[in-house]
Amino acid sequence: MNEQTEVTLAQWRARIDEELAQVASNGDALPPFLCDAVHYSLIGEGKRLRGLLVMASYEALGGRGDASGLAAAVEIVHAYSLVHDDLPCMDDDDMRRSRPTTHRAFDVPTATVAGVTMVALAVGQTLRAAETMGLSAETAKRLVSVLMRASGASGMVGGQLMDLMSEGRAVSVEHLEAVHRAKTGALIAASVTMGALAARGAPDAVDALASAGASLGLAFQIADDVLDATASSELLGKTAGRGAVLAKSTYASTLGVQAARARSDALVADAMKHLDQAGLRSGPLLELARFVAARRS
Ligand code: IPE
Ligand code: IPE
Ligand code: MG
Ligand code: MG
Ligand code: MG
Repeated sequence: MNEQTEVTLAQWRARIDEELAQVASNGDALPPFLCDAVHYSLIGEGKRLRGLLVMASYEALGGRGDASGLAAAVEIVHAYSLVHDDLPCMDDDDMRRSRPTTHRAFDVPTATVAGVTMVALAVGQTLRAAETMGLSAETAKRLVSVLMRASGASGMVGGQLMDLMSEGRAVSVEHLEAVHRAKTGALIAASVTMGALAARGAPDAVDALASAGASLGLAFQIADDVLDATASSELLGKTAGRGAVLAKSTYASTLGVQAARARSDALVADAMKHLDQAGLRSGPLLELARFVAARRS
C-alpha cells in the first residue's frame, strides 16, 4: 500500500473512532448500565473495515464532504452484530477485540439489550450524518433503508440464524455461500453502496460498486473462516478454532484451507473488475479491496 493511502486510511479510522466515541458518550437517553455496555461494545479495537469502505466509496465517486458520521453508523450495526454473535445462545464466545465479550464484561441480559439499543442508535446516526452532509431527505431515507435491509432477516440477522442452523451438518457450498453472503456480505456490500449513494454517484457507478461490495463481503467471510482455522487467538483478538469446536459449516471445513483461500482471492479479483468498470484503478477503495483477501488478522 502506498504511504499516502496508508496515511489517509489512518486519518479516516481516527475520524470514525471520534464519531463512535461521541455516540457512546451521548447517553442522554440511556440508563447508565446500558450506556456503559454500549460504550464498551462500540469503542473496542476493531479494524473499522466497513466504515472505511463507506468513506472510500464516497471518495471514489467524488464525495467531497466528511463521511465519517455515516461510516460510524455502519460500524454501530457491525459492533452490535458482534455482541449478539458472541452470546451464549449464538457462538458462545468469551473473547472479542482482545477483551472479554460484552456479556462477559457485563451480563447476558445487558449485552442483549445493548445490542438491540445499538440498532436504534445506528438509525439515528445515519439520519444525523445525512443531515450534516447536506443530503436530501430522499437520500437519507435510502441510506437508512439500505442499512436496515442489509442488517435484517434477508441479510445479517437471517444469515446468522442460518449459520447456527448449519452447525453439525454437512451443507453444500451453494448453501454456505448463501449464508456467508447474508451474514457478512450484505453489510459489507451496504457499506460500499451507502458511500456511493451519499456521493450521489451515477446509477451505473453505484451498481458497479455495490457488486464489488458483494464480492468483497463474501471474500471477507471466507478469509475469516480461514483465519479461524489457521491463526492464533492472540493475533485475531478472538478465540481461534471456534468453527471446529462448534462444528460450524465453514469454507475451511467444506473446501479446505487452500481452496477457500483461492476462492477468496478470485472474489477479490471479481470485485476489482467491477471497480475497474466504474473507472477506479487506484486509491483507498482499491487498497481496501486488496486487504480483504491478503489480511492476516
Ligand atoms: C468479524 O468482523 C465478524 C465477521 C463478520 C467476520 P471483523 O473482522 O471486521 O471485526 P472487527 O471489527 O475488526 O473486530
Ligand atoms: C460473524 O461470523 C457474522 C456476524 C454477522 C457477526 P463469525 O461468527 O464467523 O464471526 P467471528 O469469527 O465470531 O468474528
Ligand atoms: Mg457467528
Ligand atoms: Mg462468531
Ligand atoms: Mg469467524
